[in-house]
Amino acid sequence: MGDFNVKLKYYVDSVLNQKEFPATGKMTVCELKRQISKKLKTSYYNLQHMTFLGQILDDEEEIWSYEIEEGSVLEFSYQVHDIDMDIGNFDQNHEGKVGCEILKGSVKVGDFATIVQSLKGNPSAQFNLVEPGLISNETIIRLKQLVDREHLEFSQSWGTERAGELDDFKYNLIRKELSNLIGQKTLQKLEALYEDTYDEIVIRRCQSHGQFINFHTDFSKRTLQVALNGDDEYEGGRLVYVTGGVMHTPQRPTGSITIHQNDIVHGVSKLGKGVRYGLFLLKKK
Ligand SMILES: [Fe+2]
Repeated sequence: MGDFNVKLKYYVDSVLNQKEFPATGKMTVCELKRQISKKLKTSYYNLQHMTFLGQILDDEEEIWSYEIEEGSVLEFSYQVHDIDMDIGNFDQNHEGKVGCEILKGSVKVGDFATIVQSLKGNPSAQFNLVEPGLISNETIIRLKQLVDREHLEFSQSWGTERAGELDDFKYNLIRKELSNLIGQKTLQKLEALYEDTYDEIVIRRCQSHGQFINFHTDFSKRTLQVALNGDDEYEGGRLVYVTGGVMHTPQRPTGSITIHQNDIVHGVSKLGKGVRYGLFLLKKK
């Protein structure tokens, strides 16, 4: 279970690449993927379907449990420009897309019924907003420090090549890591609030200035987001729900939590200045 090299066999835009990559038996699949993501300059999301002997590797597992050893061949493939980001894409204009003028900030009203209808949303969908208090401020600072540190490391490795992705940086964690970071009891409270099983944990650090996430419904069946900083700490970047025929822009102070299902139409208004941090629990399978 010591240090060894695995062989990565992967197709990028259908072109075969092979590379030796250092691993240890005790590392989790998640840790291995994060390191590969950093070194290969690709998004973690591109590595979702990494296989060994035809079996998809589970992020939570340690790699020794698959009997991966020296010379084992791990396979995956991805398209250079095809990144599946389930928590939305920040973009500059989303030109021509429904409701984009609202999130750009150029108009304040819209035909909300048409927006919901065109996105096949539920016109009376609900969202929950939970007041701060579940996660302590010290813990929130620790989560922000972690994602800041990782953002810096990825920036050093990726350089300016992937500036857009680095500006909207997403760091995947497994449950055990989140439990170590926030404490088991707090995690259990968060899970009770989620009221379902989840299969992805992400910390997001966004500084995509001048960009917004257009109205959409999520692929993730249920999304819980803890605001890791308050919406008074950055300019714009407001979470906007459209339901009940109106637009809701909840105040999200540090530590507040929003929960919604994938039937509610929502977006994020243009981020002007500052950095916006969030912790997400998602159900994608
Ligand atoms: Fe979303």
